Amino acid sequence: MTKPRILTGIRPTGPLHLGHYVGALKKWKELQDTGKYECFFLLADAQALTDHAGEPGKIRRAILDVTLDWLSTGLNPQRSAFVVQSQIPEIFELEHYLASITPQAWVEDNPTLKDEIRILREERKETVTSAFARYPVSQAADILIVKANLVPVGEDQIPHIELTRKIARRFNQTFGLIFPIPEYMVGEVGRLIGTDGSEKMSKSLDNVIFLSDPKKIVQEKVMQMFTDPKRVRADIPGTIEGNPVFIYHDAFNPNKEEVADLKELYRQGRIGDVAVKEKLILVLENFLEPIQERRHQFEKNLDELRSYLAEGTKREKEIAQEVSAEVKQSMGITLTEG
Ligand code: TRP
Repeated sequence: MTKPRILTGIRPTGPLHLGHYVGALKKWKELQDTGKYECFFLLADAQALTDHAGEPGKIRRAILDVTLDWLSTGLNPQRSAFVVQSQIPEIFELEHYLASITPQAWVEDNPTLKDEIRILREERKETVTSAFARYPVSQAADILIVKANLVPVGEDQIPHIELTRKIARRFNQTFGLIFPIPEYMVGEVGRLIGTDGSEKMSKSLDNVIFLSDPKKIVQEKVMQMFTDPKRVRADIPGTIEGNPVFIYHDAFNPNKEEVADLKELYRQGRIGDVAVKEKLILVLENFLEPIQERRHQFEKNLDELRSYLAEGTKREKEIAQEVSAEVKQSMGITLTEG
């Protein structure tokens, strides 16, 4: 019996942060550790290139950073395949074939893509490349090239998985049953807000805490975190809802009783922001310490790390070649009679 397959991925553009952990890595590790799935974790370097092509070297460095973050949070290359997307050309071949049956309107209606295009054009004043404008189709190819059954992702990725499902269904209806229709799964915290309370975490907004941030930086960042803007003094009642410091306590503090107590005191105006932040600093230090300890171990042997990538990529490549041949055969893109 073959196990159901999981495929998920991340664009390597820099080291990962707490939002990546709660929104993605935590769930990936849990699923990996059940032993019930064959897991593929994709370093989507070619997808990252669609808006970072002008920065050679950046993505290569980020691949190492992301791999270190994966290893240090418990993703295990002995159990799961770590795959470098650009090294599987079958993905881009499949992207073309899938794009050929995908109505442009399906791509244009994608709310995540729309939002990203708006930010690139209006806020960052950058060019939207043609590859960027259709990366969701490329992402469908990432998923379908291994016939994945399940895609654990952060909330913002749901439209891409829905698109993948539609493309897979259309493909199957047109050319015969080739692809499973992949399900998606979101972690308990689908999205973590930035330390400044804004919805999007981003390096350029300087509102993220990286998994690899040293203690001192974490302390500074927590001390600067936004809280309840209406609370000007520690002895007036404060609001918990939407308050970043409490959202982070909820996400990272394993002591639920303490969190409940802190909330109660805060609501009653009996504890100050600084005290709640000091608790959060301890919580994050406890959380990050073992992760960073493992990171240092793996950093000492980058050759070994590269061998994990080569091995995982090879494992996916074998499957990709088979699926690619099957797809082309069914579409009639072949020199031999089907
Ligand atoms: N778009 C995802 C992100 O930005 C990365 C990604 C690429 C992905 N291919 C994927 C996620 C396939 C899930 C499945 O993080």
